[in-house]
Amino acid sequence: MLISISNSYTHSRDKEAPMPDQPFLTDIRTLRKRARQHIENGAVTPGYQADRETVIRILNEALATEIVCVLRYKRHYFMATGINAQSVAQEFLQHANEEQVHADQIAQRIVQLGGAPNFSPEGLLTRSHAEYVEGDSLIDMIKEDLIAERIAIDSYREMIAYLGNDDPTTRRMLEGILAMEEEHAEDLVSLLGELGKRKPL
Ligand SMILES: [Fe+2]
Ligand SMILES: [Fe+2]
Repeated sequence: MLISISNSYTHSRDKEAPMPDQPFLTDIRTLRKRARQHIENGAVTPGYQADRETVIRILNEALATEIVCVLRYKRHYFMATGINAQSVAQEFLQHANEEQVHADQIAQRIVQLGGAPNFSPEGLLTRSHAEYVEGDSLIDMIKEDLIAERIAIDSYREMIAYLGNDDPTTRRMLEGILAMEEEHAEDLVSLLGELGKRKPL
């Protein structure tokens, strides 16, 4: 005789607490059956709760944001001059490399969700949340980078709230990226503080 997993699960918990009529967990046979359907969808199973097209669209916006940030930090890295330039330039370079890692992570997730990462230079700035501002002085560059980081922080926070529990993998990835953008913003604020104390700039 075949005893369903959900029944035995309910039975074993009988004495502890009353269980609802509908078990919380999907039984294994249903899970296996669902996984066999539409296997071409890879990691995207019928249990995927989010609106996949919207998730891919917002991830492509995040991808554009990261690419713009890589370009802006690279420009600042190569253009940083003056007495305080060397340590600041190193910080710009490190941020550029970290934004590149974020871009790659996001592109990878878009593919996993069955989408295509948009790397087209056409419309890149329109898709991006953050702007590309060159900045004339070292201080200007740091300020522009800080503004861009603050924009990225807000947009990642919104995306995370939007995803909630509907796509925990994308949400966790974005939470990791958000934490790093917050570190970037903190680095830039301390650079501004340090430079403010030193004269001339
Ligand atoms: Fe980033
Ligand atoms: Fe950043």
